[in-house]
Amino acid sequence: MSKIFVDACFRKETPYTPVWMMRQAGRYLPQYLKVRAEAGNFLNLCHNPKKAAEVTIQPLDIVGVDAAILFSDILVIPNEMGMHLEFIKGEGPLFRDPIKTEAQIDALIGGDEAASKLTYVFETIELLKQQLPEDKALIGFTGAPWTLATYMIEGQGTKTYNICKKMMYSNPALLHKILRKVTEVVKLYMEKQIQAGIDVVQIFDSWAAAIEPGLYDEFSWSYMVEIAEYLKEKYPHIPIIMFPKGIPAFLDKVYGNFDVFGVDWGTPMSLAKEKLGDRYVLQGNMEPCRLYSKEETTKCVEKIQETMQGVGHIFNLGHGILPDVPVENAIHFVKECQRVSKK
Ligand code: CP3
Repeated sequence: MSKIFVDACFRKETPYTPVWMMRQAGRYLPQYLKVRAEAGNFLNLCHNPKKAAEVTIQPLDIVGVDAAILFSDILVIPNEMGMHLEFIKGEGPLFRDPIKTEAQIDALIGGDEAASKLTYVFETIELLKQQLPEDKALIGFTGAPWTLATYMIEGQGTKTYNICKKMMYSNPALLHKILRKVTEVVKLYMEKQIQAGIDVVQIFDSWAAAIEPGLYDEFSWSYMVEIAEYLKEKYPHIPIIMFPKGIPAFLDKVYGNFDVFGVDWGTPMSLAKEKLGDRYVLQGNMEPCRLYSKEETTKCVEKIQETMQGVGHIFNLGHGILPDVPVENAIHFVKECQRVSKK
């Protein structure tokens, strides 16, 4: 049976435009909070394939989306490279010993050794392959090397990225050395996700906007393209979605062998259509906070549908859903996307 989501990624005819939401498995769902409480905490949940599979499927059943995204986190990668990951309540992720020196980079576990440690992710995917309805796609994912490096260098989330940027401008070779090591792990990690059974790959470059447009290719996009090219050569049937958040100034320079470009909410869909619509399917891009109002959601979905006539499209939010969005509003969004695009 063909999967509508995979078909749409390859610009094939579909009965309606499929929809999913970034961060769709998470805290806005009471059913998620219950499973997280049973697991003890978020990382335990990531490490428990049975429970991770359960929360992956929740938004399909509850919200009605057309694809599931594997429940995990981008930061399990540096964790398995030997950096100890913690999540601090109310604050977010923390690495207590961030990367400052070449010796620390050399000491990181690399390549296949690091990728092979992510067995709990591959087991979750294998369980999901048995549990997911045949017509629903499973999206696997990674963080872009740059976004992963920001956490590895800063140790935590940052507003200014000043430690990373100090390295970017004063010792770019050191930053490239980190990016290279992470890229090699990500290639093999995504390959193993594909072998375990994912249907689609998404690469999240959540902190793309931290890099000035003229340097974005050098420090991020070229590594993302390298990962996509590595996977495409071996697995051309697996669609790849690139999501660089917040770089409308880079649209003119986008290149690479991938299928879908994820448009963030700050980039007009009409601009993305004009610049990229003939080369890539476009995913997005409702402003996630519109979900607080059903009327605003409907207006926005109708506008996006109208704009995207004539090019390949997948409905999504322009970034992740927030924890205090009412579940019924998320359901409304999904229904509206499916309604307005029905052929
Ligand atoms: O439905 C899904 O998308 C679930 C899988 C998923 C999570 N994180 C679960 C999660 C995915 C795809 C991610 C990606 C992720 N993680 C990104 C890229 C996407 C984006 O939003 O830009 C980034 C930057 C991270 C790093 C991360 N993980 C941060 C900064 C935080 C803390 C802030 C926050 O959102 O809570 C996390 C924690 C996290 N990852 C949670 C979830 C459900 C919340 C943990 C909890 O249950 O308390």
